[in-house]
Amino acid sequence: MNTLIISYSLTGNNQALAKRLAAELHAQHIVITEPKPRTILAIFLDVLFNRTPKIDPIPTSVNPNDMVIFIGPVWMGQIATPLRACFKQFKHKVLKYAFISISGGADGDNTKLGDELIKRTGVQPAAMIDLHIADLLPSNPRPQRKETSAYRLNGKDLDKLMETIKLKLSQLDLNK
Ligand SMILES: Cc1cc2nc3c(=O)[nH]c(=O)nc-3n(C[C@H](O)[C@H](O)[C@H](O)COP(=O)(O)O)c2cc1C
Repeated sequence: MNTLIISYSLTGNNQALAKRLAAELHAQHIVITEPKPRTILAIFLDVLFNRTPKIDPIPTSVNPNDMVIFIGPVWMGQIATPLRACFKQFKHKVLKYAFISISGGADGDNTKLGDELIKRTGVQPAAMIDLHIADLLPSNPRPQRKETSAYRLNGKDLDKLMETIKLKLSQLDLNK
């Protein structure tokens, strides 16, 4: 079984995570970008009107037995909208996949991600790992959105996050 990582990142956190995971798993890594610069307004409009923005490249084919790991930020409680075109492309075609995110987490867990993944891919994820920047910062006082949004992962953060991810992935029964 091969592993394919497909990632999107606006400000670099999920890109750093995806790059590191791809290196550790020796996985093929496709980095999604957008032809147009992304604005905060466009994030709001995508979420509000359920838009699927244009991306480059749209991954075309995947072996149904491969494990696909999608990595990207959470925006307004939803998976970053540039990944939507990939989910559409792979709907009902990818049987084993995971979604991993390093999101802000200032308001707690992003509780709707599991339902969104099933809606967009037609398949239950093998794993959904929503890691939070808030957990990397001192807990007192509780980190606010402004701090978590401005935070950029460093090498030590990546080491810590990678341990959590590898532990969770190692617990998966991918033969199911
Ligand atoms: C417009 C906007 C909305 C966001 N909404 C959420 C959210 O609902 N939940 C959350 O945990 N983080 C949220 N975040 C924080 C990002 O998920 C976090 O900063 C992430 O690490 C950015 O990833 P990137 O550097 O790969 O783009 C939001 C960030 C932006 C810019």
